[in-house]
Amino acid sequence: MKPLIVANWKCNPITQSEAKELFDSISKGIKDIENAETVICPPFIYLSLLKGLTLGAQDCYFEEKGAYTGEVSAAMLKDLGCQYIIVGHSERRKLFGEKNNDVNKKVLAVLDAGLIPILCVGETEQEREQEKTEEVLKAELEIGLIDVHDVSKVIVAYEPIWAIGTGNPCDIEEAQRMKGIIQKMVSKNIRILYGGSVNSENAEGYLKQAEFNGLLVGGASLKAKEFIKIVNRSLS
Ligand code: 13P
Repeated sequence: MKPLIVANWKCNPITQSEAKELFDSISKGIKDIENAETVICPPFIYLSLLKGLTLGAQDCYFEEKGAYTGEVSAAMLKDLGCQYIIVGHSERRKLFGEKNNDVNKKVLAVLDAGLIPILCVGETEQEREQEKTEEVLKAELEIGLIDVHDVSKVIVAYEPIWAIGTGNPCDIEEAQRMKGIIQKMVSKNIRILYGGSVNSENAEGYLKQAEFNGLLVGGASLKAKEFIKIVNRSLS
């Protein structure tokens, strides 16, 4: 299967013209690449402006419609052309108080809408120091996947929180060990991505040595040249 390279733009950039420029530069740079699948997850408001690459969203609400001021549903995102939705990103868990049960409702809502959830899991530095990593991941996966009948329709992203936006990526050997642990906790045919300070220098190691099925890229996906390099280095 082709590696899946997902760009999570988070809350960037500020203007529509910057979003279009970044998207167009990435599109141009990867248009001839067939051996990797690339997904761009911009802020909601840019989704309808961006055409030509596979799109994903960074979050969604678990109800389809109704009196939920400020929320955006998976059905709406599907209608906009999204194929993937990131759920349970550590920033949503930490800054917006999302719990494993909320994340589970979102996973189910995304599947119900016929889209692919990218379920993010990962431990904090403190949890790692206290040797609670496996316990944390187990809870995130077990609760996150409650009532999911076909787990092969879900993608898991291992994003150690201490590696996100820090320039301190997880060691390739350690990432490989974590991939094995997560794979044992879930079905064999679930795809697992790595995220956390991915750049064009380390991308290949996570895919080829640590055997992840793809990457979830934050900061480096905001620089077209760097992101294009990451996609190029991901080809088998
Ligand atoms: P960075 O690549 O900036 O560390 O962010 C990773 C991430 O959170 C992607 O979802």
